Parts: sequence; structure tokens; C-alpha cells
Amino acid sequence: MSHRLTCPLCGKSIEFTLVPHLRDDHKVEPEMFRRQFPDKPIHSVGFTEFVRSSEVRRQGDILHYKLEVAGIKMTARHGVDHPLIPASDPTFVWTDPCKDVAEAIEHNERVFIYGPSGTGKSSLVRQIAAMTKRPVRRVSLNGETSVSDFIGHWTVNDQRQTVFVKGILPSAMHEGQILQLDEVDAMQPEIGFILQQVLEPSGHLLLTDTGEDIHPHADFRIVATANTLGFGSDSGLYSSGTHVLNFSWLDRWDVVVHIDYLPASQEIDLLRARHGSIAKELLTCLVTAAGDLRRAHAEEQLTTTITTRRLLALCSRLERGNEFRGRWPPLYSTKVPPEDRKVIAETFDHHVGPLATS
Ligand SMILES: Nc1ncnc2c1ncn2[C@@H]1O[C@H](COP(=O)(O)OP(=O)(O)OP(=O)(O)O)[C@@H](O)[C@H]1O
Ligand SMILES: [Mg+2]
Repeated sequence: MSHRLTCPLCGKSIEFTLVPHLRDDHKVEPEMFRRQFPDKPIHSVGFTEFVRSSEVRRQGDILHYKLEVAGIKMTARHGVDHPLIPASDPTFVWTDPCKDVAEAIEHNERVFIYGPSGTGKSSLVRQIAAMTKRPVRRVSLNGETSVSDFIGHWTVNDQRQTVFVKGILPSAMHEGQILQLDEVDAMQPEIGFILQQVLEPSGHLLLTDTGEDIHPHADFRIVATANTLGFGSDSGLYSSGTHVLNFSWLDRWDVVVHIDYLPASQEIDLLRARHGSIAKELLTCLVTAAGDLRRAHAEEQLTTTITTRRLLALCSRLERGNEFRGRWPPLYSTKVPPEDRKVIAETFDHHVGPLATS
């Protein structure tokens, strides 16, 4: 059964129904289309079955339907286009904790995701948004985001009028986007206090500059990511720039999810999916070495750890035809303190072979 149709106006291939595309891209209503193209279908053959099985509902101009994300039934929008909707990544690996994040986003629970660097926390939020077609406004609160970026500021417009330009938070609330707050454990206290009122169960935001009281759009969601849970960093790896978070602030997050590195077999699958030309044996050795290094870090024999991000970067180099020899240090070991280099070199020697250090 075919799910796709070709738009006779522009030739674009569209899934299930041309209606949103005709309205958004051509400003053409279905009646006009039927008059102009009486012989062309406006819905695909599979559309009726899709409407039935996916519990399709129309809300305003948008069709909402149900789909499974990480095993959780979520509501997705059909055929919407927005520059802030992330592209989907078919190689993304879904693990058990992803379920809690999907459920929280679906049911408007405030979710705080924490875990070591490069474990896919930010990617997870983007992938859920990509599947459900929700726009994501992402901001890093690593100290560079000022209160005026976050809340808004006064400026003079082209007509020389003084106007207030809404910042990231009120815009996301107003437009019904997912607000992804990265590195919340490094945010300035002023931003934490502003967020506190929004995190209340029926939270809203009073813009003191204008007196406007912003109530969130029904689709507004708020997700935080951090390397620590706000009690400081045990390993010292994330101490620089992170703060101890106020308990009453933390308590306002409904769901706290810990994301760790992928289990070895899934990490190998990810590397293979992204870098299919590299021999599976080599990828397995790299992931085994990474596992040993992460264990050594947990046992405090190593001050740093190795992220999935690093492994992917190394694979990109290997895939460009570089040998392992000499490719490794600039991507990893030159970034770590000298005392870690010996353990890293020995681990790679052991699993990947002597080429690793030559
Ligand atoms: N489960 C996964 N599936 C697919 N890719 C993943 C997964 N986990 C990590 N990655 C990849 O690892 C890289 C780092 O991921 P990401 O930036 O999401 O990590 P993070 O946990 O947000 O890191 P940080 O704490 O440093 O912000 C990305 O290229 C991402 O695609
Ligand atoms: Mg991140």
C-alpha cells in the first residue's frame, strides 16, 4: 500500500495527504485543488488506514497522530515544517532510560537529564523532537547566556521606537517549543531564580520589564541536561564551572533521568552504523578499550574518561583512510593530563595493538 503522493504543483513527494503541504507551501485549499486537478488524489491509498491505526486527530490546521518512541506512545504532528525541528538520525540508539524522557515530554513533566559527557543527552532530546516533529530551542547555560538573552531586552527598532524583544524563555513558552537547557549545573543563579517560577506546576513568567504575564502554550516543554546532578562533581571532571544547585530548585523537576555510556554491543552498533567501512573487529577493540578506560576512571586510576563523541571522531579519521598510527593522539591523548597518557596508551596497546601508540 502506497503512503506517498506527488504534488502536481511542485513535484514534491509527500506522505499520506497533500492538505497541509498545499495550505502551507502553495496557499491552496483542498476544494481549489480538487477543482484544478479532478483526477489527482489528495490523500494516499494508505491514508484511511493511517487515520484509523494511528489515532489521527485534527487540532486547528495540524494533524496529530500517535507513534511509538522508545516504546512510549507519543503524539506527533503530521507534515509540519519548522526550522527548529531537528533532523532525524536513523543511527540513534534508544536505550531504556530514553523511555522516561519520552514519557515526560509527552505528558508535560519537567525532565532533568544528567550523566557523563558525550552520552547522548542532548541528542536524545533532539531525536524525540525529530520523531514527534516538535521545534526545539536549545540554549547552553554555561555562563555565556546572559539574563537579557534569556528573558529579553529593550532595543530601538527601525522606526526609532523603543521596544522590548522577548528572549529565549518567553519566546519558547509563547511559541510552544521544547526548551532544551544544556549545562544547567553551570548556570548563573539569576537564571535559576527566573526558571523557578516557570517550573511550578502551572508555572508562568512575569516579565517585570513590560508587566506581561506569559502563560505557556500547551506544547511548551522544558528539559534540562547536565553532567552533574547539582551536588558538585565527585570525579572532579566537571568541577570547573559547575555549581551546587539549590535543592528547592532541583525538587521542582518532576523526573530525573540518568544517562550513561551505551552498553558495549550498542556502542559498537552505533559506530558501525555511522562508519560502516571500518572492520567490525577494530570497532569492537576500540569499544572494549573505551570500556576499560571508563572503568579505570570510575576506580579513580584515571582522571579523565573517553566519550562516545571521541570514539566517533576517531572513527571519522579512520574512515578517511588514516591508519590508527598517529591518528589517535591529537584526538584524545593530547587533551588529557600527562599522568593519564600512560594508562591510555597501555589500554590501547592491549586492545588495539602496538600501532596505537607508535
Ligand atoms: N545513544 C546514542 N545514539 C546515537 N548517537 C549517540 C548516542 N549517544 C551519544 N551519541 C553521539 O555522541 C555524540 C555526543 O552526544 P551528545 O552531544 O548528545 O552528548 P551529551 O551527553 O549531550 O554530552 P555533553 O554532556 O558533553 O553535552 C553525538 O555525536 C551523538 O550523536
Ligand atoms: Mg549535551
